[in-house]
Amino acid sequence: MTLTAVDDYVEFCVALRKLTGIDLTQYKRPQMERRLRTFYANRGVTRLTDAIPRLRADPAHLEELLDRITINVSQLWRNPEQWDVIHQRLLPELAEAGQLRAWSAGCSYGAEAYTLATLCHLALPGRRVTIQGTDIDKRMVERARLGVFSEEDARSAPQELMNIGFERVPDGWRAKMNLRSMTRFDVGDLLRTQPRPGSFDLILCRNTVIYFAEPIRDELHGRLAEALRPGGYLVIGSTERVAQPSALGLTMQHPFIYRKA
Ligand SMILES: C[S@@+](CC[C@H](N)C(=O)[O-])C[C@H]1O[C@@H](n2cnc3c(N)ncnc32)[C@H](O)[C@@H]1O
Repeated sequence: MTLTAVDDYVEFCVALRKLTGIDLTQYKRPQMERRLRTFYANRGVTRLTDAIPRLRADPAHLEELLDRITINVSQLWRNPEQWDVIHQRLLPELAEAGQLRAWSAGCSYGAEAYTLATLCHLALPGRRVTIQGTDIDKRMVERARLGVFSEEDARSAPQELMNIGFERVPDGWRAKMNLRSMTRFDVGDLLRTQPRPGSFDLILCRNTVIYFAEPIRDELHGRLAEALRPGGYLVIGSTERVAQPSALGLTMQHPFIYRKA
């Protein structure tokens, strides 16, 4: 890669950060840069700096770009083996505390939060459950608030659990009112927020840090660990790892589940 290419990437990141607060320099550079350059090459733009004036002037173009750089892939019961462990092992233990405060960090359009809400409805009857979802992508947060999912979103979901938590709507499913009342969705940048220490019993942060540069990922895991109460759980994606769990006061219970000491 030429020096010019390096410079125009960094300059573009600085401009985007000023405009949106999103700091692309914290994400794995090769993937992010490739995505950006392909996006602009398809529009006849070769130098990223040439794209900055349009970014500032055209909100629809900015939206389109954000759509390209935030990977929002999700589904209900994504990685069912993880949900089995959450349902069978974590929720019964967490139920002993009386209430459950959970956070879906990088929630996309809410599939993870509503999957958890369905299981809480089954495993924690009568308990107070609050599931907070946050995502950097405003459009995803707006979708999550609706709680509407396609047939494709439900492809890994057990039918009997879909019938418990969701009702049929044209072309898909909508989370029932009791699930929606457990959830709350807000726009939030994981790299710029620090919840109060000990505020959550359970944090799901799956398939989100894979896009972050490693030191940023490790720092984020540290902040998530701090946001857990003692005895609380952090669940990560099945292809991810916490680099130094013991340094964060975490012990691995499963390849993807960590308990705060
Ligand atoms: C692949 S989705 C994962 C959704 C869900 N956790 C799952 O596993 O199905 C990753 C989400 O992380 C969000 N994201 C990326 N960077 C973020 C940041 N800095 N703060 C909050 N959310 C972020 C993206 O917008 C996207 O919706």
